[in-house]
Amino acid sequence: MSVLGERVAAGLKFPTGFVWGASTAAFQIEGSTTVDGRTDSSWDAFCRRPGAIAGGDTGDPAADHYRRYREDVALMRELGLGTYRFSLAWSRVRPDGGKVNPPGLDFYDRLVDELLANGIRPWATLYHFDLPQALEADGGWANRDTAYHFAGFAEAAAERLGDRIPLWSTLNEPWCSAFLGYGSGVHAPGRQDPEAAVAAAHHLLLAHGLGMAELRRHAPAAESGITLNLYPVQGPDPEAVRKIDGLMNRLFMDPVLLGRYPEDVLADLAPFGFGELVRDGDLGLISTPIDMLGVNYYRGYEVTREPVPGSEPAGPEWIGAGEVRFIPDPDAPRTDSGWQVEPGKLTDTLVSVHRDYPHIPLYVTENGAAYPDVTDADGQIADKDRIAFLDAHLRAAHAALARGVDLRGYFYWSLLDNFEWAEGYAKRFGLVHVDYETQRRTLKQSADFYAKVIAANALPGL
Ligand code: FCB
Repeated sequence: MSVLGERVAAGLKFPTGFVWGASTAAFQIEGSTTVDGRTDSSWDAFCRRPGAIAGGDTGDPAADHYRRYREDVALMRELGLGTYRFSLAWSRVRPDGGKVNPPGLDFYDRLVDELLANGIRPWATLYHFDLPQALEADGGWANRDTAYHFAGFAEAAAERLGDRIPLWSTLNEPWCSAFLGYGSGVHAPGRQDPEAAVAAAHHLLLAHGLGMAELRRHAPAAESGITLNLYPVQGPDPEAVRKIDGLMNRLFMDPVLLGRYPEDVLADLAPFGFGELVRDGDLGLISTPIDMLGVNYYRGYEVTREPVPGSEPAGPEWIGAGEVRFIPDPDAPRTDSGWQVEPGKLTDTLVSVHRDYPHIPLYVTENGAAYPDVTDADGQIADKDRIAFLDAHLRAAHAALARGVDLRGYFYWSLLDNFEWAEGYAKRFGLVHVDYETQRRTLKQSADFYAKVIAANALPGL
């Protein structure tokens, strides 16, 4: 066989030790929101607000993972997952943001032991959007004190679990927590207050820095970092690109990795009092060295200030970014979330992060797609679109590796169908289908595809 023939037959190999995983988040799968001392999170409260969540869905029973975690770990094992990324519910660990609640921590203790017993490495995210509602009532992330409460939560979690969890993220997507939670109001707590949104952004970053200090103290051997939603912002108009890239990417990357806020973003946010929020010492804490950066990628950001009929705004009105619009590609397929499928832009994202911040190892900590999966007469879920999505994005990740990016692993979002925030249960992202009536789990064909990729550490040959 020719050399080329051999390469094609063998498929596209990933480096030895490449980490294969899947991600979830506490509020999206656990359910059991009132047991073992857990109290309300901001998402429990937000779900009660009429019209906030599609279909009036709530976080209970979700995928009932709190009670079915053993079954779910068995599914992970069937898939051959090396690592499982999940989040801790702060409202279980320190209900109301107050005293440590041992029964709540016990759940994560059991989960971690079950994972380890099945040869799966746990990756814990401390905060994935669900603030104790009692802290929200005190101003939530707009209140600087919340960052110090977060440090206490991080300490409790790392003290108890730090000996067994080798990978930690402090926060998941602080951009979403700040700007969707307090700016557009489509996430909990549903506020529409620009000053609160920019304050939340700084306080979340401060919380990250304080949390890193706790992880270093109590989990010194672990790899710790933060997970950000990053976008390759592109387009013909440099000012549109600058503004959106600043708000989505550099506002979070620069303080964490370079120890400073970008000047142009500081100027954009000055009318909302951003400068006054930053105290001496904050940037030193925020830039505590991290071991790796988690990159969540779902879509590109091709933007312009030219009028584009029918296109959505790409940034918030209140920082003057409302006139920046997405440039839709009429030929690109879209997922059930309406997001264009743009695998090449995953390569662009990874390459540009590696170029601008060269020393930080990267993981794709989330990438995935919702499709209206249907169960056929044989009980099979032939989710061809998801397989194509996964295949294309893994090729894109591989292309980034080939271009020298220090990419250490890939996590599909999500292991299970789950509560997709304001969209409720209608959007199905899982490799595993969940029948919410019976809580029956069924592996979709994409799960078989992913299991084969993991087993081969390679994409199938062409
Ligand atoms: C990300 C979130 C995750 C999930 C996916 C679809 O922004 O981190 O919880 O909702 O989007």
